[in-house]
Amino acid sequence: MIESLEKINASADPQFDERLSKALPILESLFKKIYPGDESDVHLLELLKRLAKARKDRPSYLKQEDNRKSTDWFLSNELCGMSLYVDRFYGSLSKMSSKLDYLEELGVNLLHLMPLFESPEGESDGGYAVSNYRKVDPKFGTLEELKALQKKMHSKGMYLMLDIVLNHTSHHHEWAHKARKGEKEFQDYYYMYDNRWIPNQFEESMPEIFPESSPGNFTYVEECNKWVMTVFHDYQWDLNFMNPRVLTEMVDNVLFYANLGVDILRIDAPAFIWKETGTSSQNLPQVHTLLQLIKQCVKIVSPGMALLGEAIVTPKEIMKYFGTEDFLAKECDFAYNATHMALSWDMLATSETMVMLAGQYDILQKPEGTSWINYTRCHDDIGLGFADQSILDSNKDPHAHRNYLKDYFSGVFQNSPSRGALFSSNPKTGDARISGTLASLCGLECAIESQDQKSIDLSISKILLMQAHSMFLGGLPMLFYGDEIGYTNDYSFQLDPAKSYDNRWMHRPKIDWGKVEKRKESGTIENLVFSQTKKLIQIRKSLPVISDHSNLEWMSPHNIHVAGYIRKSEAEKFIGVFNFSDQEANLTWYAFREKGIVNVSLKDHWSGEKFLVGRDNEHLSVQPYGFYLFEVELN
Ligand code: GLC
Repeated sequence: MIESLEKINASADPQFDERLSKALPILESLFKKIYPGDESDVHLLELLKRLAKARKDRPSYLKQEDNRKSTDWFLSNELCGMSLYVDRFYGSLSKMSSKLDYLEELGVNLLHLMPLFESPEGESDGGYAVSNYRKVDPKFGTLEELKALQKKMHSKGMYLMLDIVLNHTSHHHEWAHKARKGEKEFQDYYYMYDNRWIPNQFEESMPEIFPESSPGNFTYVEECNKWVMTVFHDYQWDLNFMNPRVLTEMVDNVLFYANLGVDILRIDAPAFIWKETGTSSQNLPQVHTLLQLIKQCVKIVSPGMALLGEAIVTPKEIMKYFGTEDFLAKECDFAYNATHMALSWDMLATSETMVMLAGQYDILQKPEGTSWINYTRCHDDIGLGFADQSILDSNKDPHAHRNYLKDYFSGVFQNSPSRGALFSSNPKTGDARISGTLASLCGLECAIESQDQKSIDLSISKILLMQAHSMFLGGLPMLFYGDEIGYTNDYSFQLDPAKSYDNRWMHRPKIDWGKVEKRKESGTIENLVFSQTKKLIQIRKSLPVISDHSNLEWMSPHNIHVAGYIRKSEAEKFIGVFNFSDQEANLTWYAFREKGIVNVSLKDHWSGEKFLVGRDNEHLSVQPYGFYLFEVELN
């Protein structure tokens, strides 16, 4: 391997050479752990060649960026992200650049552009069924236009996040076409079987992801008379990472995206990339070895690019995506705080903080140097994936509690103002997730229908409460487009056969820029939601203590409706206090004093008011769905 390395090292790039020589022993051991066979060296050498080639192709301005960025640039309180579909937001990549001003006005400086690469119309899963990893789908524009947008964003100090769909390709990817035609080499890129013998074994222990629209985990391919694994939709063929060629090709794609100037790469559905009969085929140890390997490759070629593992799994499993043991903080830099996201919806539906607090233990173990994506919702459904134990610890029955949440958010529960819908209900397990926009889930759609101003105001308060609670926790806030303007559900997907089977489209609006203009008319819903979301972002950016240095501490639940957290640095202290009930709540000042917050004043950045910490028998009043964003000031 050393001799081969010398050949590769002739790259006239001392930084690359140094990083490669340093990382090679780790890379080699990870690679051989996954691919121990006789041909391991041959495959590893091919991978190294791809790294060298990618480094050679890396534009010099990106190499400079790599050097400029600190290793933890992404922990900063000055970042605020938004996920959006380019076509539904403003048509195309070329037109997008004229809307960067709007995003800047709001304070967003990191964009997650939902999948842009070629994906067959009608069988696209919102772009997560990729038929060509190097070609921008013509419906968005061209690769050149993407590069131009990235450069424009870069010149404005904005960061770019894109996806790599690692687990599967579209059934129209050229590998799938070749496999279908009978080429053994490409059939080995997928999990393909002659009959149902092995598929049946897998099915015994593999859960279904889309039980309504795509039941089962295998699809029959008539052309080659084989069964192929399709965990998601039947048009998404699972890649077989047991084949080292698949890893090499996909790392090559990862580095291609790095060289487009991607700052955060969202690894789609990593929990699924290794399968074994007799298991759930999720979160297997090999998944982590593969991700650690990918992280090493990225560190060598494009160290400025951070990795986000989109693992929407149980809290204990999510934590492992940050790496464990020798690889602690050396796997994914980011994970979605899916547990906390769901727990905050739990608070909204129940007006209580107990389950949320019981669910904190695991997620507080996040290693220093890694970060969360914090969000109230994203393009996907909201899964109630927190642990049953958190519900039990709150003296509630997990089954009944989850049923209540489903009923509440789908508007079935009596007097629930929420207008969501159940997604992927599985009658066999009783599981279901939730679709619906932030605004509709917070009651705005229902309030507008009933033309009740008080309910409209209350639902706006809920929207802001949910955003504030998420924005000041440790991590990078990722808004979902449309939420900044109070978009309610869009039911037009029901009329489109390419979307009607998937109600997640109800919360993926097509932006009406006339509606967005209303943000400028004082007193409109758009104005209230936009201006106050903007204010939250501004406050976040003004407080360095909000940077994600694992400095989060929860306050004791002296009032069951009020969630409070403290963020501390050597120089500063921040306290967020959030009332999840529709009644005014009183919080004893003892809650502050017991945390050492005494003889200080509290400056609320939200209202501009100042408070002195009172005596134990006095209290702080929090408005229904109201909150405080306190900076602690010495008297
Ligand atoms: C991820 C995406 C989701 C998609 C799935 C399959 O979970 O976020 O939208 O359906 O992967 O690619």
